[in-house]
Amino acid sequence: MAVCKSKLTEKVVTIIGSILLVVLVGIQFVPTKPNLSEIVPETDFMVINSVPKTIQNKLQVSCYDCHSNNTEYPWYNKIQPIAWILEDHVVQGKEELNFNEWGNYSARRKNSKLKSIISQIEDDEMPLFSYTIVHGDAKLSEEDKKEIIKYLTQVKKDL
Ligand code: HEC
Repeated sequence: MAVCKSKLTEKVVTIIGSILLVVLVGIQFVPTKPNLSEIVPETDFMVINSVPKTIQNKLQVSCYDCHSNNTEYPWYNKIQPIAWILEDHVVQGKEELNFNEWGNYSARRKNSKLKSIISQIEDDEMPLFSYTIVHGDAKLSEEDKKEIIKYLTQVKKDL
C-alpha cells in the first residue's frame, strides 16, 4: 500500500512538473512592448530646467529607466516572466512620473511631483530596492541625495 502511494505521488509530481515546464516554455513566446525612444523631447525635465550635468547623470542612471520613454534593458529582459515584471515597473513608473513629459505638466502637478520626488529620494523609496540590487550604480549615496534634493528644492521654489 505504502509503495502504491509513493508511486502515485511520484506520478503527480511528474505531471505537475511537466505542466510547469510547458507553461514556462510557452510564456517565452508572449511578447512585451518595449519602452524605447531615441528622441529627447523638448518637454524633457533636463531640457526645460537646464539641469547641471552631475545631477542629470544621476537622475538618468537612477530614475530614467522607469520614468521616461526610454529604458536601457538588461539581457535578462529576454526571459519571461522577468520581462513582464520590468514592463509593469515601467508602465506604473511612467504613470506616476514621466520626466520626458515634464513640460506638459501643469505648475500644480510639477509642484506636487517635485514634493513627491524629494520625499521618495529622502526616504530611500526610490530608486526601487529591487532595481538597485542589480543596478549598483543607480544607488544614491547620502551625498548624492543631498545634492539632488537641494537642487530640486530650488526648482520647486522657482516654479
Ligand atoms: C525600477 C523602476 C524604477 C526606478 C529605477 C525608479 N522608480 Fe520611481 N516608481 C516606480 C514605480 C513602479 C512606481 C509606482 C509604484 C510605487 O509608487 O511604488 C514609482 C513611483 C514613483 C513616484 C511616485 C510615488 C508616489 O507615491 O507619489 C515618484 C515621485 C518616483 N517614483 C520617483 C523616482 C525617482 C526620483 C527615481 C530615481 C531616483 C525613481 N523613481 C526610480 C519605478 C521606479
